[in-house]
Amino acid sequence: MTAGGGGFAAVVGGPALHIPVLGRPAVDFLNVHDGGVYIDATFGAGGYTRAILAAANCKVIGIDRDQSAIALGADLVQAANGRLTLIEDRFSNLDAVARSAGVDAVDGVVLDLGVSSMQLDTPARGFSFRLDGPLDMRMGGEGPSAADVVNAAGERDLANIIFILGEERHSRAVARAIVKARSAAPIRTTRALADIVSSVVRSRPGDIHPATRTFQGLRIFVNDELGELVGALTAAERILKPQGRLVAVSFHSLEDRIVKSFLVGRSDTRAGSRHAPELKRPSPTFRLLTKRPVTADADEVARNPRARSAKLRAAEREPAPARAGDASDLLPRLPALADVLQGH
Ligand SMILES: C[S@@+](CC[C@H](N)C(=O)[O-])C[C@H]1O[C@@H](n2cnc3c(N)ncnc32)[C@H](O)[C@@H]1O
Repeated sequence: MTAGGGGFAAVVGGPALHIPVLGRPAVDFLNVHDGGVYIDATFGAGGYTRAILAAANCKVIGIDRDQSAIALGADLVQAANGRLTLIEDRFSNLDAVARSAGVDAVDGVVLDLGVSSMQLDTPARGFSFRLDGPLDMRMGGEGPSAADVVNAAGERDLANIIFILGEERHSRAVARAIVKARSAAPIRTTRALADIVSSVVRSRPGDIHPATRTFQGLRIFVNDELGELVGALTAAERILKPQGRLVAVSFHSLEDRIVKSFLVGRSDTRAGSRHAPELKRPSPTFRLLTKRPVTADADEVARNPRARSAKLRAAEREPAPARAGDASDLLPRLPALADVLQGH
């Protein structure tokens, strides 16, 4: 098995729009084999998909909620000659997506979380505090934007979003500054928000941009990224065959904590307590393949700074039936987007 781009990189060449992070270990852990069907739940620029298709004579179902990622993948669909199906959807629906494509069980699911370089580097998408554009941040283009949240949410909700999802220590000061600024005029652009945050969060030379955490928190909230992740993990549990592989690459501690807690909980093989034998634990649905997360080596980080914070975890599906329940206990407590938009 090889994890290179092979003929697919050559067929759909041109400059890389997004350099895949941890692409080789991700595809190696998927254990790609001839005749297998794999879900690339975060198709993006297709880097993982190319490597999977090059590794064996297999099929890939690629999913992305971003219509422009799916449109850009059209050439690859053509080159793959019936081996690649691309579907615009959210990955929390990945089991339903596979069934709609006529596939009842798959050999692997891979998630490469977060935003792509294409999204980050396009000012009109509103993800970047370094480039000025509309304050949008929606990966899928539907639903409320970051500007809707910033201009409608109550100060306490804003502070909680920025603290919990952005892990910003100065969240209260940021929320206060946002509420003060918007009372003069609505906050419509990434530059306007970045300037407001920079007025209350100081940074020293060499630190990350002062607006990094606030933008992260709003982006995760607007796209319900953690709810989507929990949905994808449980959907993968339902659609993977026994011995099928789940591989997840995350980019910040909130995501990694959810992946880790889910996999540790699902792979727990300890027997019930001898004092309370009636509390029988359900059979494990996964076997952990990574005791510690796999991280990028110095070479990859030098080539691609995005790889710096990446953590890969992998597990193999056991034959036990998928657990009931939605695993929402893994999520931080925050009000729903619709409630936040009501303001206070
Ligand atoms: C880091 S990029 C993936 C890059 C890809 N592995 C590659 O090599 O080109 C993440 C992609 O996942 C998509 N995405 C994020 N959350 C999603 C969700 N809930 N459902 C579907 N796609 C999602 C984003 O739109 C983005 O295109």
